[in-house]
Amino acid sequence: MAIVLNCDDTASINLDDLTHSLKHDFVMRDEESLVQCAPLLRRLGNNKAFLSSYVASKLQTGTPVPRTLARFPEPSLELYSTNDFLVRAVFWFPPSQFPLSRRWQANSLSYLTAHDHEHSFLTIGYWGPGYVTHLYEYDPVSVMGVAGEHVELTKCASQSISEGKMMIYQESSDVHIQSHPSEFSITLNVALKSRRFAKPQTIFDLDTGAITSSVTSEKPYFDTLFRIARHLPSTSMVSAVEQLAQTHPEPDVRMGAWRHLADSDPSNIECYLRSLAAIGTPEARSVVSELLSQAEEAHR
Ligand SMILES: [Fe+2]
Repeated sequence: MAIVLNCDDTASINLDDLTHSLKHDFVMRDEESLVQCAPLLRRLGNNKAFLSSYVASKLQTGTPVPRTLARFPEPSLELYSTNDFLVRAVFWFPPSQFPLSRRWQANSLSYLTAHDHEHSFLTIGYWGPGYVTHLYEYDPVSVMGVAGEHVELTKCASQSISEGKMMIYQESSDVHIQSHPSEFSITLNVALKSRRFAKPQTIFDLDTGAITSSVTSEKPYFDTLFRIARHLPSTSMVSAVEQLAQTHPEPDVRMGAWRHLADSDPSNIECYLRSLAAIGTPEARSVVSELLSQAEEAHR
């Protein structure tokens, strides 16, 4: 469940103070470390000048913005990053302030769409009235994360991330749907890099309780590699795909790997069909039926 934190600390620090302390005074690996460093983020949140200076320095030097936030859909700036955590500022625009080229974001993952996050993070309302977030939770251990899968979502209290309000979103288990902010707002985040679950970020249909899609699935990437691998066959390619099929955390990637092997080596198809069926997802069962039909057709 998302954790709401209360901290009335009125001291103020700068970004370097925060990042130096996070690096040297904390072990940033779980939600407990986010709870412990919350007073520091509150102090940075009290500094209403640092972000303006940061943005001005980027404009002045023309330094390109790091692209490591590719998986974070809201307009954001990465302020600092290590192997263990990152600090970022996230900008929340009311739809009337979206440039025409980004109007699609009014109904994108950032807003009005129920989604979880791949990483746990601590957030604080830094500027403006903030957004209202409607929270749900589920047990990620019992969920594979494939499209069409039903998930038991439990409704939790809605929260408003106003200035100074702090909350921790827990990896995978917290689902939320954001309302548009009434005015431009900013939140500051400390996000963990370490993960407990290997689930991709997921979108949910609250009406049906089903997973709509995985935002950050690695399936498209591996499907492309499978298509290339078909043209470059070798024994080492087969063993590499077999290893992927046995070990990748995403069922859809394992399914693609077993299917690739079944297509490449029809003499072993029974073994591959058993492995496909063992994945247990509706799509994997449908692939098994399709491959069985193809095999029957070939024998006629
Ligand atoms: Fe979100």
